[in-house]
Amino acid sequence: MLDSGLGGRLVLVTGAASGIGLAAAKILGGEGARLALWDVNADGLEAVPTDGAASVERAIVDLSDTTTVATAVDALPGPVDAVIHCAGIYTTSPLPEVDEASWDRVLDVNLKGAFNISQAVAPGMIENGGGAIVLFGSFAARTGGLRASAPYAASKAGVAGLTKHLAQWGGPNGIRVNCIHPGFIQTPMNAILSDQAKADAVAATPLRRLADPPECAAMAVVLASQLASFVHGVELDVNGGMYMA
Ligand SMILES: NC(=O)c1ccc[n+]([C@@H]2O[C@H](COP(=O)([O-])OP(=O)(O)OC[C@H]3O[C@@H](n4cnc5c(N)ncnc54)[C@H](O)[C@@H]3O)[C@@H](O)[C@H]2O)c1
Repeated sequence: MLDSGLGGRLVLVTGAASGIGLAAAKILGGEGARLALWDVNADGLEAVPTDGAASVERAIVDLSDTTTVATAVDALPGPVDAVIHCAGIYTTSPLPEVDEASWDRVLDVNLKGAFNISQAVAPGMIENGGGAIVLFGSFAARTGGLRASAPYAASKAGVAGLTKHLAQWGGPNGIRVNCIHPGFIQTPMNAILSDQAKADAVAATPLRRLADPPECAAMAVVLASQLASFVHGVELDVNGGMYMA
């Protein structure tokens, strides 16, 4: 039997109220992890099932706010062993319709948020002898996306670059850092897309289907676990072959 080694470990999931983060929280509960679940959606966060978890703490944390994130990390019950950072927002505005406010918000949540959480957990991980960080890019970082806006694609490409920087910096300190680029995963994030957009995504995916959230979340949990002990600085495509590196 494979042993994730996550039992009793403190694992922080951001964006835990929905989609891939919610699915990751459920899997981690089954692994007996000590869970810290963050989101801005209070009702969704409260409803996350965590059967099997050794302990659960839920907190409303806006990942785009550097000070808020640092304060929330300080309030956790000890150093974080692993972070699965799923919090993110998606927009599809065509280039002429992207205004400065929407550019700034998407970059603040998706890219600055990834920086904020990584910077905040790193000192505790170093003191603790290491840790694992899993960030979320996107298929859009690889290709520009099927419907993604300019700020979304740019923010996710930024996450890929950040992942490599963090891997260079964190590796010698025992911190493994990897990034997942999901293809089309059926979560509330994609509810804004038309049936035509979904059909286009299926047609562009060699497996000819969209994915369910656990199919992506399971890969994040593996990357966060000792099963991936020598996997570092990787951009992992979970996309049914939609883009092949
Ligand atoms: N679903 C897909 O097809 C897909 C494709 C490519 C990339 N991704 C990426 O995967 C990650 C998870 O996406 P998902 O599909 O589960 O989305 P989702 O919308 O289902 O969940 C995202 C969660 O992040 C939370 N969130 C948003 N802004 C936040 C903030 N400022 N602070 C804290 N929490 C915040 C939301 O409340 C929500 O619960 C995201 O980074 C997304 O960009 C998803």
